[in-house]
Amino acid sequence: VADLSTSYLGLKLKKPIIAASSGLTDNLKSLQEQLKKNDAATIILKPIFEDEITHEYEVLTSEAGSIGYNAEHMDYFDYQIREKNLLKYTELIKNAKKELSIPIIASINCYSTHEWEYFASNCEKSEADTLELNIFSTPTNFGIKSDIIEDRGRYLQIAEKIISKTNIPITLKISPYFSNLGSIIQQLSTTGIKGLVLFNRFFGSDFDIDKLELCSSYVFSNSDKIAQSLKWTSTMSNKVECDLAASTRIDGGETVIKQLLVGTSTVQLATALYQNRTEHIRTILSTLGNWMDQKNFKNIAMFRGKLSQTESSNPDIYDRIQFMKFFSGKF
Ligand SMILES: Cc1cc2nc3c(=O)[nH]c(=O)nc-3n(C[C@H](O)[C@H](O)[C@H](O)COP(=O)(O)O)c2cc1C
Repeated sequence: VADLSTSYLGLKLKKPIIAASSGLTDNLKSLQEQLKKNDAATIILKPIFEDEITHEYEVLTSEAGSIGYNAEHMDYFDYQIREKNLLKYTELIKNAKKELSIPIIASINCYSTHEWEYFASNCEKSEADTLELNIFSTPTNFGIKSDIIEDRGRYLQIAEKIISKTNIPITLKISPYFSNLGSIIQQLSTTGIKGLVLFNRFFGSDFDIDKLELCSSYVFSNSDKIAQSLKWTSTMSNKVECDLAASTRIDGGETVIKQLLVGTSTVQLATALYQNRTEHIRTILSTLGNWMDQKNFKNIAMFRGKLSQTESSNPDIYDRIQFMKFFSGKF
């Protein structure tokens, strides 16, 4: 029987399937009854968001302002709300660690530098095995040049700062929206982080034509969405100094095999777990195991990265993106 274990961020995982952060990973009941029971190797908790805490504070202060509280009271509310949310999150980490006996990955999303540090140190103190930084904010200030964001910019500063202040493995879950994506991936990989997740998927907006207002778009991914992470995992594998984890539209055993073939160490799933229920993890693992047996691969190391660009005898073909007849055959 094939050995499905893999190494990720220095952790030895029994399988390569990770439950990505989502509503399925924000409470102990779902972690226990849905994910652990169905063989997730590790779980990434839904992030604690600085934004959400700020929003709660703003709602409270607008109510409190109208009944005459002063600035000192407001500071106190700010402190209380933040501590209450952090306590709830760190309790979830501690309980998940105690009850699940698999590695638990905490996750944070902040915008102010001091909060990144403070949240990270709280996750470390609660004994999260590793920490995923969900870094992205929409650049709405069009006066900021892209090099301020990318080249030695904010992403690198946050990564370096947190690495210098914590002792647990740090991963970054990034978006594909950079002008020179390969360059930023390489730069980030040299900061001391242990892994990069390619890529985060964001909540999109849509517009309601009856109510004439903004609404949320479809939250799940579509099958064409896998192409981007496959492309960039295959391109960057062996060119970075950390592990790669693939994410977005990994919906079954075949897509897991493809991602491993192009060089990922693990895969993160969300949509497939909502759409096919969490039992789907077992089906995926069985497809992977059967395929490995068929191909006579005794372990994942025997085929991981075989289809990456650096292993190819024709690496240039990986960079073609135009619909030329030569490459697409008939179209
Ligand atoms: C319902 C739902 C909620 C999610 N919430 C978060 C979140 O809070 N933080 C985060 O980093 N990613 C979140 N994600 C993104 C997933 O962690 C993951 O990166 C992405 O969904 C993977 O693609 P997939 O849905 O095609 O598997 C969410 C995804 C879904 C479907």
